[in-house]
Amino acid sequence: MTYLETAAQFYSDVAQTPEVGLCCVQSSPLQFPDLKVPRKMQDMNYGCGTTVHPTELSNQPTVLYVGVGGGLEALQFAYFSRRPRGVIAVDPVAAMREAASTNLETAAKENSWFDTSFVEIREGDAFNLPIEDASVDIVAQNCLFNIFEPSDLTRALREAYRVLKPGGRLQMSDPIATRPIPEHLQRDERLRAMCLSGALTYDEYIQRIIDVGFGQVEIRARRPYRLLDARNYNLPEHLLLESLDSVSFKVPIPEDGACVFTGKTAIYSGAEEYFDDKNGHILQAGIPMSVCDKTANNLSKLPKDILVTNSTWHYVGGGCC
Ligand SMILES: C[S@@+](CC[C@H](N)C(=O)[O-])C[C@H]1O[C@@H](n2cnc3c(N)ncnc32)[C@H](O)[C@@H]1O
Repeated sequence: MTYLETAAQFYSDVAQTPEVGLCCVQSSPLQFPDLKVPRKMQDMNYGCGTTVHPTELSNQPTVLYVGVGGGLEALQFAYFSRRPRGVIAVDPVAAMREAASTNLETAAKENSWFDTSFVEIREGDAFNLPIEDASVDIVAQNCLFNIFEPSDLTRALREAYRVLKPGGRLQMSDPIATRPIPEHLQRDERLRAMCLSGALTYDEYIQRIIDVGFGQVEIRARRPYRLLDARNYNLPEHLLLESLDSVSFKVPIPEDGACVFTGKTAIYSGAEEYFDDKNGHILQAGIPMSVCDKTANNLSKLPKDILVTNSTWHYVGGGCC
């Protein structure tokens, strides 16, 4: 069996016998007015954060959801799209597609606004999405791409890029590792399938997103996810995994490199009313301006009175670039 087949078998098992808390985080699923999430769908929440950003889901976007799980996020996206095939959900595991369909039928009974036609479930996988080039506004995946070995991760990212319209968004949540995960754990296919040993470091993960062509990446959340403790995982010291929620935009990469927003701001503290770096950034004295990490780095090197604040890992828009 390949590691991808091991993962498929694992998810076939947990589709038939839900494993509550498999990937859970210390936050409850997003609640919206008049949204009732069926019990079984909640039990099958196998995500490690959220890919649904409610303030950015106006205009009934078309969403391609990769790795449907129990259908929780497909339902949450459908809450905003509210039209037939507004959400297309893809999964290679028959038992998972079946479980999601059943859960969505239950959701239709419990939610008067929802119709099962709002989510179309298709057989397919992250490496061959059954969908045309440049045809969707959003591609979302939660806690799936971290399972992939690095070269497969790049294939999946390329495929997401292919199906997004220009300006479209890749919304992801994945575990990342605070230092490289040792080989013996990476090779453990079951741990990998359980989202515990395939994670890359933050820098590697972001670089792979940029390498396939995404010109802007925004970090929406970063929080502790799991501890691989030294004793149980045969490690010289504990290894903390974090969960990272990100949104990557299919926009051209600027000549001086991609823009990655992590919540930094720049504040001019000099005697003038404002500071103009003659590169598109005008800082009003005393007022924080959101900047990408590249701009933050450039501004911090200037011999000027500019304070650059740390990453908050919670960026929600505005600022440079
Ligand atoms: C960790 S679960 C996450 C499920 C869902 N995103 C959630 O948040 O609950 C991974 C999902 O990806 C599916 N999957 C496994 N291999 C896949 C592949 N190669 N391409 C697409 N989906 C895959 C599994 O069947 C499962 O539904």
